This record gives sequence, structure tokens and C-alpha cells, in this order.
Amino acid sequence: MARGRRQFLTFLGAGLTGACAGGLGPLAAAAQAGRSAPFQPIRSTTQDDLVLPSGFRYDIIARWGDRLPGTNSRFGYNADFTAFLPLDDPRDGVLVVNHEYVSLPEPGEIGVYTQTFPLVRGYPPRVEDEMREVGVSVLHLRRSGAGRWEVVASPLTRRYDALSPMTASGPALQTARGLSGTLENCSGCHTPWQTVLTCEENVQRCVPEAVDTAGRGTVGGRFGRDGAHYGWVVELDPRDPGWTPVKHTMLGRFRHENVAVRAEAGRPVAAYMGDDRTNGHVYRFVSDERYAPTAPSRGSLLARGRLSAAVFHADGTGEWRALAPEAPLAPSPGSLHPPIPRGVTTLGQVYKDLGAIVTDAFSASNLIGATPTGRPEDIEIHPIDRSVYIAFTAEATAQGHLFPNLYGEIWRIVEEGDASGTRFTWMRWKAGGPNQTPRGGRGFAAPDNLAFDPAGNLWVVTDITTVRLNADERFTMFGNNGMFFVPTSGPGAGVALQFASAPCEAELAGPSWPNDRETMFLSVQHPGEGYGIRTAGVAAPRGSNWPGGRSGDPPLPSVVAIRRG
Ligand code: FEO
Ligand code: CA
Ligand code: CA
Repeated sequence: MARGRRQFLTFLGAGLTGACAGGLGPLAAAAQAGRSAPFQPIRSTTQDDLVLPSGFRYDIIARWGDRLPGTNSRFGYNADFTAFLPLDDPRDGVLVVNHEYVSLPEPGEIGVYTQTFPLVRGYPPRVEDEMREVGVSVLHLRRSGAGRWEVVASPLTRRYDALSPMTASGPALQTARGLSGTLENCSGCHTPWQTVLTCEENVQRCVPEAVDTAGRGTVGGRFGRDGAHYGWVVELDPRDPGWTPVKHTMLGRFRHENVAVRAEAGRPVAAYMGDDRTNGHVYRFVSDERYAPTAPSRGSLLARGRLSAAVFHADGTGEWRALAPEAPLAPSPGSLHPPIPRGVTTLGQVYKDLGAIVTDAFSASNLIGATPTGRPEDIEIHPIDRSVYIAFTAEATAQGHLFPNLYGEIWRIVEEGDASGTRFTWMRWKAGGPNQTPRGGRGFAAPDNLAFDPAGNLWVVTDITTVRLNADERFTMFGNNGMFFVPTSGPGAGVALQFASAPCEAELAGPSWPNDRETMFLSVQHPGEGYGIRTAGVAAPRGSNWPGGRSGDPPLPSVVAIRRG
């Protein structure tokens, strides 16, 4: 092992890895030592590349359309969450990559998937192709002597998509026929018991979203499937291809951005989740079983428990309200929910049973007075003090809401006692907005994915929507979407330093790290989503040719490995 590599490991110490948290070793270590930023921050830019600080480079691991070695499958579209799981050989590991959606034509967007598919695949895309583009890629990686990670042919290298076999736990879907497929896979979680949770987000793009008060969905949408089968948190075992993934229905059905798991020996497990829609809610699942690191948890720990939705009071206190049949009705003013029959006072009198309540979690939460929020994206748990950080990416619109910031905000909540009580406090930890020159930091807008390193520094990626990016004058100062490093303690606490800038019309997503923290894995999602392929005579920031870089090259969503060099 090279001397430099050993130094990085020594810096970090052992056993600092946490569930759903990671760090870029040398960076985290330097910050921990109280020094200034361990990299030279970049400035905002509209360059059509993944721009990194001096001394860092990136390698592409997989691009959309790449044939996965040893399979008949391909790397899917719009890579998002990543998680790296080690294997016995220290040169090897498994990288899990979510694929969220395909970029079809929308108002203000060309439909870069539809535009580029014929160039990449040789024929126009069919719905069957779209169903293969979403889901999850599992990549067996091996690191070469030169430090580069490459995908290898192995039984571990495989795909889950909108047609893969699935099973279900909990109160819903127990009688579902033909349950299969996962789609709109946004963010997720690497669990302490070494499985991965993948979250089904904007399923309304593919299937009908509405269900009735018995929890019944309808068949239809682009994918012609029963909408009640999607919108869940799905557990899979990256290191066991023979294990069928499980949709954990007690974690609720909504537009799941992500899930963050807090697991401490001898205590129930808590899972925090956000429903990424305007006026969506924040949720917490608490397991019935207590976590035992040596006991089998795969598939079972998240099967039984209780689901609650957050109420944020304006005075900085908050409470978790259970989505249970006995929950009293206290409907949020003006919110969407089923009609309340005369004389009815509890959720259980509106819905058929608990399965129906969790299947219609957004409406049921409105019925019990959960707080409408400004699009909760990622939620992560601080690795040292266990407080919960939530990226609210935009404003809310509901009557009397608490989310007026156009640029989004990061909130911090602290549970009263452990994570199984009903009360908490909250604060606005960091507001999005223009540059903060007096403090030396860079401002950001539209925070999306969050990741902690072991020293408690927060890594924030942004997702300014394509129609605003480099177009809306309130957002042009931010340039392209990016990634920011924000310490949570010490003199630089709360100051954002920019570490990366995305190619044009892309967002960065899903940073993760192997245990040695020499590499950061990162997804580059939807380059060219607004204007598509950049051709001669068109200038950045309109369109993209990333990663090829030549005029006319099709933009390709990809996952990359960032390292020093
Ligand atoms: Fe898939 Fe909410 O970002
Ligand atoms: Ca996201
Ligand atoms: Ca997003």
C-alpha cells in the first residue's frame, strides 16, 4: 500500500462509518483538524463539464446505455443515489446506483432521452425500453493498480427494473397480484445491516397515483400498471442476487425522496423520510423490533412498526402524529384529502384499515394536520449528535406555511429523548440564497441530496430546476448545479464552499464513499435536459455534450469516481 494511502486511513481512524453517512477521507480529516477548507473551493460556472477543485479528477464508471459486463442488461438512465458495499477482497466492492426516470419532452424541455435514444441505441424508444431504464444497477467493481474502479462481469453485476420480481411486507399489498418492478428510484439508504433501501419517488409519471379509501389503485399510466404497487421504500441485498427485494409498506406510500436510518443496539430503529412534493410531509417510521447488530435484520426489521408524520409548530417545537386508525381528525386547512363523512372523528373511520391509511399517506397526513412543507428532499442523520437534517428544496404554498424561501433551506431537528418519542425541536439551520461574500462562503439554491462525512461535515448537492437554471434571473448567479461542503461545527460552521459544478442542465446526485474514503462516487443526472444535444453555433449553458465533449455528442447520464490526482 502506498504511503499516502495509509496516511489517509490513519487520519480517519477506524469504525467511523455510519449508516447513510460517509466522507471523503482527506477532506474530512483536514476539516476535523480545524484547518481551513481542505480543497481550493471553485467558483460557480456554466462550463459543460464536471468541474472539480485543483488536484481532483474524475473517471467515468458507467454511462447510460453501457452494456453491463456478463449480462444482457444496460446501465439505466438518470443515475441518482449511490451506495458502496465492500466485498472480502479489498480491491472489490459493489456499487448500487438508482435510476430515477427518463427525460421525456416537457414544457421548456426538449426531451433529451427521446432525442438521444436513437443515437445511442439505433431505434426510437418504446415504453418497454423506458421500463428497463429505471430501477437500480448493481455493479461489481474492481480497482486496478492505477486506482481506477471498473465494472466486472460477475453474478453480482445486475439490474432491477420496472419488471423485476418483488415481494411486500407490512399492512398493504398482501393480496396484490402480479407485484413486480421498481421505478422512479430517487435516493435511498445503505443500512447498518448491509442492505440498500431504494425509494420510489415520482411514480405519477408512470402509473396512476390516486387510491381510494380502501387503498385500491387503478391500472394505467405510461407503464400500464397498478399505481398502488409503486411509491414505496424497497429493500434489496446487493450482495445476494438470489434474494427478492421487499416493498416495506409500513414505511408508507408517497413520493419517497429518500430514507435515513438511525439504528442503535437495543433500541427500535427509526427511519426518516420526506414526500417530495409541494406541501408534502416529513415522516418517521419506528420499528416494533429492537436493533441487534448480530441478529438477522434483512427484510424483517422494517416490516413492523408505526408511521408518523411531522407537525412543525411556529415556536420551534414539533410533534410526531401517528398514522393509525385511532388518530383523531384535524384536517390541514385547504389540503387534499378524502371527504369526511358526517360524525366521523378518526382516520380509521375514513379508511378501510391501516393498509389503506399507509397506502394513501399524503392525504391521510393532511387529515391529521401534518405540516405542509417546501418539498422535503434528502434527510440525513448527523453521525455524531444524531440530529436530523432535512433539505427543503423550495417554497410551500399552503395556508400559513413555514417555507417562504425561494432558494430552499436546510432544517435541523433534535428529538426529545431517543428517536421513539413524540416530541422534537427544530431550527432553520441554513438558508439557501445568493453568495455570502462577507463570510467567504458560496451561496447555493435548491438543496437536494445531503451526505455527512464522519467528522460531521455536510455535503450538499443542488437541483435548481431546469426551467430556472441559467434562465431565471433570480438564479443565474449560481451558474450550473453543484456540490457544496458545509462544516457543522468549528469556525466555518454553516459556510458553504463549492466542491463541484455539474455539466450544463445536469444535477449531481448520490455522493457515497468506500470505507477507505479515497474515492467519492457521484451521479451526474440529466445533462442537457433543457436543450438537449449542443450543436455547432450554440453556446453553453444551452444544451450539453457531456461527457464526450465534442459538438454533437449526446449527453449521457453517468456515474463517476472522484479521486485525487
Ligand atoms: Fe428525485 Fe426529489 O428528487
Ligand atoms: Ca433527489
Ligand atoms: Ca431532485
